[in-house]
Amino acid sequence: MKSVFITGGTTGMGMELAKHYLSLGWKVGVCGRDRLKFEENFSLHRDNVDFYLVDVANREELQKAILNFSKTIGLDLLIANAGIGYKSKTRVPDFEYSYKMVHVNFLGVMYAFETALSIMIPRGTGHLVAISSIAGYNGLPGVSAYSATKAAVLKYCESLNLDMKQFNIDVTAICPGFVDTPLTQGNHHPMPFLMNAPKAAKLIARAIQKKKMVYAFPFFFSTLVRILSMLPRTCYRRLMNIKTLNYSKES
Ligand SMILES: NC(=O)c1ccc[n+]([C@@H]2O[C@H](COP(=O)([O-])OP(=O)(O)OC[C@H]3O[C@@H](n4cnc5c(N)ncnc54)[C@H](OP(=O)(O)O)[C@@H]3O)[C@@H](O)[C@H]2O)c1
Repeated sequence: MKSVFITGGTTGMGMELAKHYLSLGWKVGVCGRDRLKFEENFSLHRDNVDFYLVDVANREELQKAILNFSKTIGLDLLIANAGIGYKSKTRVPDFEYSYKMVHVNFLGVMYAFETALSIMIPRGTGHLVAISSIAGYNGLPGVSAYSATKAAVLKYCESLNLDMKQFNIDVTAICPGFVDTPLTQGNHHPMPFLMNAPKAAKLIARAIQKKKMVYAFPFFFSTLVRILSMLPRTCYRRLMNIKTLNYSKES
């Protein structure tokens, strides 16, 4: 029986991915900081899923959970999905929260990959996946640290994809556009091409199965964003026309 460990699997895309793999008969481990959310959202699926109370910004906690899951269940696939976003856009960043974002969104991925690789390299098999974002392709106004952490995750995965080939380990970066989850439900800005979480999870699972290096979706929106990332930055700045952007909270 195959096994997957998903960080941040209590709500949103992580939860939908967990349910997808459960429906395929996989053993699933999910972690998060809130056991209640897990109990509510997995009340019908308790048999093949284990919950670990873990803050991914805590290297030791996360390492212990992944090692424990691997020892008792196995570890074919690891999905580093846990992440946090901004509640509102600001020109001057909230630096305390930005540091937290680096710890959760980027270091959380590194800690998970570090532990998974210590298991997968000796075995000579495995697949690592991280959820980046289309926000990682361009420095977006108002969400500086979020863009930066997602760019870091994307480049980290690209590098590791090349480095891990010789160990027979696949590495995939997923770059979603806007997906309807608790993370985006408080957003006041427009969210073009908003997709529901079960559909996003299906697309992500298909990209994982195909062992893609990078998968960005939805197609039209992500293509537009990738074209923007190729423009000279003076053109990008003009197109973004930052004076007209609305910030729900100015600081
Ligand atoms: N929704 C979008 O439009 C969108 C677009 C692009 C990328 N993404 C990325 O997709 C990933 C999943 O987000 P989502 O939209 O599904 O949001 P979500 O519903 O808020 O899910 C986030 C998950 O991460 C967990 N989490 C947050 N901080 C954590 C921490 N310090 N330690 C452990 N678990 C933590 C949460 O669980 P607990 O609350 O139980 O800790 C939750 O299970 C994130 O990396 C996000 O940046 C989202």
